[in-house]
Amino acid sequence: MPLPDGFIEEIKVKNDTVDVISSYVSLRRRGRNLVGLCPFHSEKTPSFNVYPLSSSFYCFGCGCGGDIITFVEKIENLDYLEAVKFLAQRAGVKMPENSQRDQENAFIKMRILEVNRAAARFFYENLYSEKGRGALDYLHRRGVSDRTIKKFGLGYSPNSRYNLINHLRGCGFSNSEIVSANLAYSRGGDTNSVSARFFDRVMFPIIDLRGNVIAFGGRVMSGLKPKYLNTSDTLVFKKSLNIFALNFAKADNDGVLILVEGYMDVIALHQAGFRNAIATLGTALTSEQARIIARYAKEVVICYDSDEAGQKAASRAIDLLRPTGILIKVISVPDGKDPDEFIRSYGKDGAIRFAQLIKNSGNDIEYRLQKAARGYNLADSEAKIAYLKDCVKILASLDDLIEQEIYAGKLSEKLDILKQTIMSQVAKERLRTKKRVEKKQFLNIQQNLSARNDRLNAEKSHNLRAAAAEEAIIAYIINNPESAGNIFYRLSYRDFCTSFNRKIYSVLEKRFKAGRPISITDLTLDFSCDEVSAIAAMLAKEAERMSSRDAVSEYINVILFESGKLDEDKIGAACDEQIIGYMQLLREHKK
Ligand code: GTP
Ligand code: MN
Repeated sequence: MPLPDGFIEEIKVKNDTVDVISSYVSLRRRGRNLVGLCPFHSEKTPSFNVYPLSSSFYCFGCGCGGDIITFVEKIENLDYLEAVKFLAQRAGVKMPENSQRDQENAFIKMRILEVNRAAARFFYENLYSEKGRGALDYLHRRGVSDRTIKKFGLGYSPNSRYNLINHLRGCGFSNSEIVSANLAYSRGGDTNSVSARFFDRVMFPIIDLRGNVIAFGGRVMSGLKPKYLNTSDTLVFKKSLNIFALNFAKADNDGVLILVEGYMDVIALHQAGFRNAIATLGTALTSEQARIIARYAKEVVICYDSDEAGQKAASRAIDLLRPTGILIKVISVPDGKDPDEFIRSYGKDGAIRFAQLIKNSGNDIEYRLQKAARGYNLADSEAKIAYLKDCVKILASLDDLIEQEIYAGKLSEKLDILKQTIMSQVAKERLRTKKRVEKKQFLNIQQNLSARNDRLNAEKSHNLRAAAAEEAIIAYIINNPESAGNIFYRLSYRDFCTSFNRKIYSVLEKRFKAGRPISITDLTLDFSCDEVSAIAAMLAKEAERMSSRDAVSEYINVILFESGKLDEDKIGAACDEQIIGYMQLLREHKK
């Protein structure tokens, strides 16, 4: 939907790029720009850059970039229009009237939420009907009270392919709406013939932070596989972005969240009074979920199953949570139990026992140091050295020097080795890791850039010189709109060699000639996310280069020459240093 320029302009003016991004990423000033740890991939050294001059951002690590709207799209997982709305709301700007498509889309989403709510009610009623007797007995046997069933809205999907569908049809929902909510499959794409996705399962509604039922998890009653089945992603649900029971826990947590693996663990904990328990939805924690957790709490207690899979998942979760800066504790539930089994096995004392577990839990470093000690006989000096090496690696993963000192101190006592010795090993290890990470990042940048460029701009490899100059000109115009007129006068989009850059230039030129603004934000609607990232990459390079007017003349000459409109001798005697440097950079990227 084309939004009026004036409106986008207002959004842009009222939402300072640095302000908005700073509320998600902690940024540090570096020259004219700002840097921080990229929120879109996990990294230890900052390669995420924000450029106030062009109101853009770019990550040299993962290659994603764009403007403030793209940023909000990605970080809040919204589509373009929703991101604009989000920013409008943030700035207190009223949205222009909705377009037709916008309205249709919103309507489908609303219907999915409605059909989900109707289904949840149906499942709940079934649980307390004759059909649900077995399931209700099962829940009671597992110690789930009626009050808890009601709080979580648990239910039962009857052992029938059609009951639910007939019921929902009776409520006025169409087959296609039921299928859109992923409550049913349509056979061979034929919406006349649909059959329920969930049957003979205990149903767990998944509720978002606004209280909408956005999906379901279902546990089998029979021995069939899979044990748990979830709604696949729909227009209103993305597994990787949602967290079970966060709707309850977000407001009731005193700054601490307990992260467990299963729905039943969450439910048992809430019933025992731990109303801050949450779980992912049958998948490993994602970096998005880690960020969400960090937004709602200062501390997270990881409490995964004590089997090998659970412990692996815990390590991975720690890796994802650490970069968010949240305090991490880890509990191991004894005797290979999960939290639900643990609490139940102590009956009335379950809650007290679990609270003790939390109280005695170490933070993630203690947990890792302890885990590393397993399998070593520390009375043996060789084993001691090997153990120390493992520990040094763990301590080196800490960015905070004080934390390093604390644990080095503890280790020094435990192993009877000088603290300074441990600390100097840690420092060496950090240096090694830093070099390794930098090298990897460098390779990543090269691969990312060239892979994407090849895809988006296939002609570039045959027109390196021209393409480099084209990109430089595009970035210059966006950064210096006051000189745009002069450039458009001398250079037409027809002079461009590569069609991707030609398209960008022609959009800019058309907008400029129509007297419309030409910032990166004004381009986001005309280009895909990947394309916007590529444009952000051009701006990132220009931010480092800061082309002079002379350089711009050279770019124009190069483009005209490459398109056959200029003789070689008209290009300045020697290319401007800057453009030579730029060409070099490109050649290196290609290698
Ligand atoms: P029970 O106590 O047996 O009811 O299960 P649980 O809640 O203890 O779950 P378990 O430890 O077996 O698994 C943890 C979580 O992983 C579950 O809550 C589900 O979200 C998910 N899960 C387990 N089995 C499956 C499966 O077969 N398919 C899918 N998609 N997810 C599963
Ligand atoms: Mn269990």
